[in-house]
Amino acid sequence: MSKQTATRKNGEQKSNSLTVDAETDERLVDSWTDYEFDGEAAISVENLDVYYGDDHAIDSISMDIPEQSVTALIGPSGCGKSTFLRCLNRMNDRIDSARVEGAVEIDDENIYEGDTDLVKLRKTVGMVFQSPNPFPKSIRENVSYGPRKHGDVNVGLLGRLLGNDDRTVEQEIVERSLEQAALWEEVSDRLDDNALGLSGGQQQRLCIARCLAVDPDVILMDEPASALDPVATAKIEDLIEQLAEEYTVVVVTHNMQQAARISDQTAVFLTGGQLVEYDETEKIFENPESDRVEDYVTGKFG
Ligand SMILES: Nc1ncnc2c1ncn2[C@@H]1O[C@H](COP(=O)(O)OP(=O)(O)O)[C@@H](O)[C@H]1O
Ligand SMILES: [Mg+2]
Repeated sequence: MSKQTATRKNGEQKSNSLTVDAETDERLVDSWTDYEFDGEAAISVENLDVYYGDDHAIDSISMDIPEQSVTALIGPSGCGKSTFLRCLNRMNDRIDSARVEGAVEIDDENIYEGDTDLVKLRKTVGMVFQSPNPFPKSIRENVSYGPRKHGDVNVGLLGRLLGNDDRTVEQEIVERSLEQAALWEEVSDRLDDNALGLSGGQQQRLCIARCLAVDPDVILMDEPASALDPVATAKIEDLIEQLAEEYTVVVVTHNMQQAARISDQTAVFLTGGQLVEYDETEKIFENPESDRVEDYVTGKFG
């Protein structure tokens, strides 16, 4: 712990922590967000700002996201979690009013600079949304959609026209992805059924399989279990932990118990799109530096 924070913890600011003024006036201390970890960063965010028109939604956030682990982003509604997540694979490009400044480095390249190939970027950095959104097609087609689009699999008319029909390659990708998404056993005998016939939890795992099919490095998840019942949620949580052995997972959740259960490190965003504290998950939940974070994780506001 740095001298600065040790002093503050014992100092007089603490006693004011419950007043509104102290909450909003609390200084942001760089060392609270300067999370140091062993190993490589999969993503390095530097001085990121996002504006929607005149609204400042992300306020100069810098953070490194370690590879092959689960990073949770938590904070009250409207604090910019989804906006931040969308910056990591340039999904905000699709929002006309959004303006992004700063750098997001992946594989030593700033994805906001130069001639970033967005299709390739979104293959490397996949995304899973809050409500499961499978295509109204078969389970198989949902999973093979990405590989087909990227030309890794040529089946049907295209395959025949090109003189090769990659059915076996497709089957392998479908099976591997569904297994990784812990769905294979439930659907192996009905791959050609419509995906919309699956339960909500199964649909969400199918969306995860769809994302895994193109072999990403990073998987972004925006409240992936918030539309699901507790049993389906538990399956998604187990799956997230398993995926982190191979992939870098960044997950937004408003469920603090979920963040505490599944993540290795937690970043707390608070009002105004600020990253207030970023550290090992245990530290954030048991002994945070910031008074506002302490109030938030103990349920005093938010
Ligand atoms: N598409 C958008 N257009 C304009 N403003 C937006 C848009 N998306 C989000 N915002 C605004 O940006 C801020 C952060 O929103 P968001 O990233 O969705 O927060 P969170 O995911 O933490 O709830 C909010 O004030 C929200 O109203
Ligand atoms: Mg959100």
